[in-house]
Amino acid sequence: FPSKSMVVWEKFSNQSMFEKKLYHYGTFPGSFLWGVSSSAYQIEGGWNIDGKGPSIWDKFTQKPGNIPGSANGNVACDSYNRLEEDLYMLRALRVKSYRFSLSWSRIFPDGLRTSLNQKGVDYYNRLIDNLLAYNITPMVTLYHWDLPQALQNINGWDNITIIDIFNDFCDFCFATFGNRVKFWMTFNQPHTIAWSGYGLGQIPPNVKMPGDAPYRVAHNLLKAHAKAYHTYDEKYRKSQGGLVSIALNADWIEPTDVNVPREVVAADRALQFQIGWFAHPIFKNGDYPDAMKWQVGNKSELQGLSESRLPAFTEEEKAFIRGTADVFCINHYTTKIVSHITARLSPQSYEHDQDLSEAEEVDSPTTAISKQRAVAWGLRRLLNWIKEEYGDPEIYITENGVSTDKETTFDDTARVFYYKTYIDEVLKAYDLDGVKVQGYIATSLMDSFEWLNGYTVGFGFHRVDFTNPNRPRTPKYSAHYYYQVIKDNGFPL
Ligand code: NOJ
Repeated sequence: FPSKSMVVWEKFSNQSMFEKKLYHYGTFPGSFLWGVSSSAYQIEGGWNIDGKGPSIWDKFTQKPGNIPGSANGNVACDSYNRLEEDLYMLRALRVKSYRFSLSWSRIFPDGLRTSLNQKGVDYYNRLIDNLLAYNITPMVTLYHWDLPQALQNINGWDNITIIDIFNDFCDFCFATFGNRVKFWMTFNQPHTIAWSGYGLGQIPPNVKMPGDAPYRVAHNLLKAHAKAYHTYDEKYRKSQGGLVSIALNADWIEPTDVNVPREVVAADRALQFQIGWFAHPIFKNGDYPDAMKWQVGNKSELQGLSESRLPAFTEEEKAFIRGTADVFCINHYTTKIVSHITARLSPQSYEHDQDLSEAEEVDSPTTAISKQRAVAWGLRRLLNWIKEEYGDPEIYITENGVSTDKETTFDDTARVFYYKTYIDEVLKAYDLDGVKVQGYIATSLMDSFEWLNGYTVGFGFHRVDFTNPNRPRTPKYSAHYYYQVIKDNGFPL
């Protein structure tokens, strides 16, 4: 069978509803890295001040009507001007780490190393120095979707020259911040960048070409990731001693019927198209999963299609990509049920490549984002699958959290329930299944610009009043709860 998903489905196949909901008590290892996340475009604002250049998200959101309420990130949480307040919240939560991203066009307004904006560098230096002063480990994402618009003008991630340009940016960041930053992620959710940006065309740069553009873009993303990893390895690892990874989208997938082979194959294929697309090259053999090669690659002739849509790596490239992550980072929100699609692939149905369009929802609590049901037990299964499939790597959950409708109340018990149940499943994976989970980063520190949802939903532990120019932040009930979980390091008896 192509992957180890059957091992996991079988292991848990007799789990009753009662067991699924049973709490496990215990604590995480002392070194467990508790944290919260954010990203530059979602919180910083200051979109054109102090020399920052525009990004593709600035351009997209500033066109009225693209986002509900014509919202944009021009001001967002105003974190560019309110660093002290963000630091205050982080200290109050007693987190051990803070995951944030660097705005590329704040550092290099036109994306190229020739255009350095020192004020942007100063902002991140201040943030990093303060975090360290408070004993908070910075976890830095180099690219969280806000490509400098100047680089989109030359076709962005669909132009292979961006591999070197991105590497120059990373090299600069390693050299400038790496004496203090020891945890790097190259890309946030490369699947979203490729599939939502170039396949479905929902997010910038809004290219709707599900046939082949996402595969070309992902190919470039993988090469760009590997190149940055090698730059770190060759120039900085010895003196700086940090680690480099990539934060992958990772929903868990269940088949509609685990006893029907083609349903099991379909669900496994969905895992491969989502996680394996990037994890298989990086953590396994430098190449795409067989399920993808079969469906969209050189074996697709067997399905009656003439051309491969999946680019191929040379042997040299495979060797270059294999092994380019020091730990496994996942962003996890939900679990989906996937069923087999009988339609033959054709240019009209390329959107079905991923097998996810047929996904049904698990019978679990709904959240403000309709496709994201709260299915805590899915996270334990996902962690078990990664352990089996990728050789028991060290794993960091770099995002997990839940949205609620724009809240008028601070009594966010749904969020407390979500964290309680999800974190407890992480504890089960660690304690009962021996999965090497090293850290948990909750999404997010505060309500912020939630991409296509604008400000209509919030994932935050803190509410931000976006109608007030001072953007006051106020803790919700869940902030107090998370503080307690961190303090207890889990759920001691
Ligand atoms: C994943 C993205 O990485 C993050 O920026 C976003 O806030 C969450 N999804 C929630 O939608």
